[in-house]
Amino acid sequence: MPLDGGGTKVGRNVDFVGARVVDPSLALDGIRTVVVRNGTIAALLDRAPAASDTSARRIDCAGMVLCPGFIDPHVHLREPGDSHKETLATGLTAAAAGGFTAVAAMPNTRPPIDDGQRVRQLLRDSAAVAAVRCYPIGAVTVAREGRALAPLRSMAAAGAVAFSDDGACTTSLKVLFHAALLAADLPMPFLSHCEDPSFAGAVIHEGETSDRLGLPGSPSLSEAAIAARDILVAQTTGKAWHLCHVSAETTIGVLEWARAQGTRVTAEVTPHHLQCNDEMLSSFDARCRVNPPLRSVQDVAAMRVAVRRGTISIFASDHAPHSEEEKEAPLSHASPGFSGLEVAVAATFDALDGLPLATMVANYSTNVAALLGVPGGSLQVGSPADMTALYLDRPWTVDPTLFVSKGRATPFAGRRFKVRPAMTVVGGCVVFNAAAPTQALPAPAGR
Ligand code: NCD
Ligand code: ZN
Ligand code: ZN
Ligand code: ZN
Repeated sequence: MPLDGGGTKVGRNVDFVGARVVDPSLALDGIRTVVVRNGTIAALLDRAPAASDTSARRIDCAGMVLCPGFIDPHVHLREPGDSHKETLATGLTAAAAGGFTAVAAMPNTRPPIDDGQRVRQLLRDSAAVAAVRCYPIGAVTVAREGRALAPLRSMAAAGAVAFSDDGACTTSLKVLFHAALLAADLPMPFLSHCEDPSFAGAVIHEGETSDRLGLPGSPSLSEAAIAARDILVAQTTGKAWHLCHVSAETTIGVLEWARAQGTRVTAEVTPHHLQCNDEMLSSFDARCRVNPPLRSVQDVAAMRVAVRRGTISIFASDHAPHSEEEKEAPLSHASPGFSGLEVAVAATFDALDGLPLATMVANYSTNVAALLGVPGGSLQVGSPADMTALYLDRPWTVDPTLFVSKGRATPFAGRRFKVRPAMTVVGGCVVFNAAAPTQALPAPAGR
C-alpha cells in the first residue's frame, strides 16, 4: 500500500481525551482516551493520563463519539477532465468536512482511470493536495466502454482497490465474465452499477409517478436484472462482488437469494435512497435526478429494513457533484447525481434512527475497510490513527451554499439533522474540526 509512503511521521503525538469511543471491531463502547503516537494508535486508556505523564498535545473530546475513520467506498472526484464540477482538492476537503478519513474514487473521469499509470497518477495527485486518503478504483473495461478488458493486474499492482465501470453496468456479459475469471485470484472486488443499458435515458423511477408525469422511467427490474446477472458471474467465478447504490426492493430479494446460496456479495445503500422517493420529481425538479433513480416510498422503506436485517452492510454517498448549470437544466438534459459527502453521515443517521451505533459505525468504517482491503476500520493498537468524531445531538440545517464541494445540488437542502461531524483525524492529524471549520484545508506535509 502506498499509504504514508512509509515515511516517518513526527508531530503526531496526541491524546484524544474523554470521548465515547465506539469501535465495533473491538466490541468497544465506553469512555476512553485514545493515545496516538507517531500517527498510530498507541493505547486506549480508561482514564486520561496525568498532564505530567505526557508531552503530547491533548484534545478534549468530551461530548463526542469517536470511531474508527469513516471510509466512503463510492465517490466521484471529477479530476482529470471535469474540474468545473469538482477537483481532488475540493472533493477530498469536502470528505474531511463530512467526517471521512478516506474515500474510494470511481474511475469515470475523463480520461477514465483504466490503466496502471493513471492509478499511480491519482494516488500521487490526491496525496499532494489533501490528507484524506484516496483509493483509486480501476475501470473493468478500456474507457469503460464494455468492449475490451482493461489491464486489471497492472492497475492492482499500482494500487487500485477495486474494479468498476460505475456510471453504467459493464455492458457485455462476456467481457465481465472474462474479467472476473482473469481477476479471480486478486483480492480486489468488482463493484457493480446495476442498471440495464436498454433503459438509458430514463429520468425517473418507472412507476405511478412516472406514469402520471409522462416521463421515461427506469423500473426496479432494470436494477434487479443486472444485479442477478452480476451475482451469477460472482457465483460462477468465485470473485468477490459488491453491488453499488442498491435502491429497489426487488434487488433485496435477489441479494437474499444470493446470500442463501453462499455467494460472496455485499451491497451498499446511499443516504438519498434511504430518505427520498420519486414524488420529489413531481415538480420536474432536475436537481432530484440521479442514477439509479429515487424510487417509491415502499422501496425506501425496504432499504431501511435491509440495513436493519444486515442484508445491506455498507453505506456510500455516491458523491456525484455537477455544476449549477448542469443540474438546473430541464430534467431530460440535467446531469444525474448529488453532492453527497457533506450530508451523508447526518442523513444516514436520520434515516436509521434507533439502529445500534456500533452497526452505524461498522457500515461506515469497519465493513468498508474489509470490502476494499484497506487499512483502518479499527482503533486496535498499531492501527493508523484515522478517526471520525461525531456529535450525536447538535441540530443543524443543510445549507449547500456552505459546502466545500463545488457540487451544490442535494435533495437534503433545508433539512434539519441532529448528527454532525465534529472532527476528522487522519494519521493523527486533525484535518477537519467543526470548532474551526475554516481550517478544513488539510496539510499534505509528511504524506
Ligand atoms: C454518477 C456520476 O455523476 O458520475 N451519477 C449518478 O447519478 N449516480 C454516476 C453513477 O454513480 O452511476
Ligand atoms: Zn453508479
Ligand atoms: Zn457512482
Ligand atoms: Zn460540465
